[in-house]
Amino acid sequence: MMNSIAFLGVSALIFLCVSPSLQNSYVIKTFDAKVDHFTFTTNETFKLRYLINDSWWDPTLTTSSIFFYTGNEGDITLFSDNAGLVWEWAPEFNALVVFAEHRYYGESMPFGNLSFSVSVYTLVSSYIR
Ligand SMILES: *[C@@H]1O[C@H](CO)[C@@H](O)[C@H](O)[C@H]1NC(C)=O
Ligand SMILES: *[C@@H]1O[C@H](CO)[C@@H](O)[C@H](O)[C@H]1NC(C)=O
Ligand SMILES: *[C@@H]1O[C@H](CO)[C@@H](O)[C@H](O)[C@H]1NC(C)=O
Repeated sequence: MMNSIAFLGVSALIFLCVSPSLQNSYVIKTFDAKVDHFTFTTNETFKLRYLINDSWWDPTLTTSSIFFYTGNEGDITLFSDNAGLVWEWAPEFNALVVFAEHRYYGESMPFGNLSFSVSVYTLVSSYIR
């Protein structure tokens, strides 16, 4: 009994080590997001990056889904690469897969290189805008 448990454990370990990591592929796009949604004093926008894969998406099916991942504090490609379940389930759910990047992370910088110099928008509270 102990031997078979040990064998299963070793097999699982080998499987984890040799199984190829999912090769996630997507198209990289941006959309114009408002720098500030809560003021009338500026209509300025910036390019917010998102990753999209519509290969399994079938809008004619009522059962199709949208898997939308709201980016956390980091480069969105890192989260996409590590969200295996999203990619594993997408074909079965005919899902449109979208990973949106959190502003001020990765390439979604509201003011380019100056993003961390423009004081009013570097307040933590503005991150949720
Ligand atoms: C979606 O992902 C699959 C699996 O990685 C890939 O074959 C396909 O080309 C991707 N589609 C797009 C539009 O990137
Ligand atoms: C922003 O856009 C709105 C709607 O078009 C307009 O009324 C407003 O004057 C604009 N504000 C600025 C600061 O340009
Ligand atoms: C930021 O600065 C680097 C180095 O000076 C430059 O190569 C890059 O193009 C700049 N990016 C933006 C968005 O201004």
